[in-house]
Amino acid sequence: MHTWATRQKGRGKTIGFVPTMGALHTGHLELVRRAREENQLVICSIFVNPIQFNKAEDLENYPRTLDSDLRQLGSAGCDAVFSPDTEEMYPEKETRVYDFGHMDKVMEGKYREGHFNGVAIVVDKLLRVTVPDRAYFGEKDFQQLQIIRELVRQEGHPVEITGCPTVREPGGLALSSRNIRLSLAQRREAQKIYEALKMAKGLYPETPVDEIMTRVASFINASPELQVEYFEIVRADDLLPAGTEDKDKEVVGCIAVYAGDIRLIDNMRLNS
Ligand code: PAF
Repeated sequence: MHTWATRQKGRGKTIGFVPTMGALHTGHLELVRRAREENQLVICSIFVNPIQFNKAEDLENYPRTLDSDLRQLGSAGCDAVFSPDTEEMYPEKETRVYDFGHMDKVMEGKYREGHFNGVAIVVDKLLRVTVPDRAYFGEKDFQQLQIIRELVRQEGHPVEITGCPTVREPGGLALSSRNIRLSLAQRREAQKIYEALKMAKGLYPETPVDEIMTRVASFINASPELQVEYFEIVRADDLLPAGTEDKDKEVVGCIAVYAGDIRLIDNMRLNS
């Protein structure tokens, strides 16, 4: 992959890179479409990265649909797919520990210990292999996107990171590879996550953030199918808790909800 990518760059081609863990859906294909639009070549990676999972059963249950993924990428006009196995990515045990300050300690980082360190290690490796000019990430994983921007800054990767808007089902549920595991009832109820985020958007900044947080959690927890893990209102640039005094900065509401044993995350800018 690296030989091919560097040869293409030597020929003056620009490369757009879309890293994924497979189980592709329209959200991923939207990243590929954007990468196509802005670059001469598109590389996509498919690798279920074991070191970013903090629960063995989550890694085990993660959907793997390589044949259909490859077909979809072919139709979407992706030029090359990098789909390494675990030994190739991790010939030795990884010991690197990144320091992202508090950015990887809050929200997802708080409930999924070591998750972002695992994401950072794999993204760093993938960027070295694929040497892209631009890399594309979904805004659904907002905290991940901000941490990857910080990783790229720390490592000095010469790549532009582009965040792409979340793609939603007609009822508002954010597309996710995990959605295929939802029962019909869970899928219907999970639309409340989007409704709750819109409610928060309607309340900020006039309502105190504590009250917004409580109202969002009670709205979702009223559903027998759903349980909020966290809902936080943070400043987009540094992920520190936002108050009403931050209303002129970019402020984002970030949420994680369990539907049975399926963990769903979403977020929305509250003050656009
Ligand atoms: O967002 C994902 O799918 C993964 O975290 C990523 C960026 C491909 C790293 O494994």
